Amino acid sequence: MSIEWNDKYRIGNETIDEEHKELFRIANRFLEATSIEAKRASAQELRTYTKEHFRREEILMHEVGYPLTATHLTLHADLISKLSAVEASIESGELHQRELEEFINFWFIKHMVSVDAPLVVYVKRYRNSGDTGGPM
Ligand SMILES: [Fe+2]
Repeated sequence: MSIEWNDKYRIGNETIDEEHKELFRIANRFLEATSIEAKRASAQELRTYTKEHFRREEILMHEVGYPLTATHLTLHADLISKLSAVEASIESGELHQRELEEFINFWFIKHMVSVDAPLVVYVKRYRNSGDTGGPM
């Protein structure tokens, strides 16, 4: 199984959308990895990239005073801890492909669509209300 980027996942912020696309690419390497070594490497890559991406989203939230920052940050922390659990199950040899697929579908795709999208709407409204905007 692999996941395919679809333009319906676009949430309208170019930087975030590009980073989400990159997350799809890394997630696919993870889903398609067959050896433990490849699984381990792609999981680690996913964790590193996800953390960097979250950090950028978090800076953006603070910059615009996003009212749902606390909830969003909790979800980011949850996702990172789920990913650590997935990594632990690679090491113990108990990683089931189905669980991995569910993890990617729920924690990545659903997060983009239902949690990141409202952030982007808020940022746009904030920028349109007179602020010249930052780098994103
Ligand atoms: Fe997010």
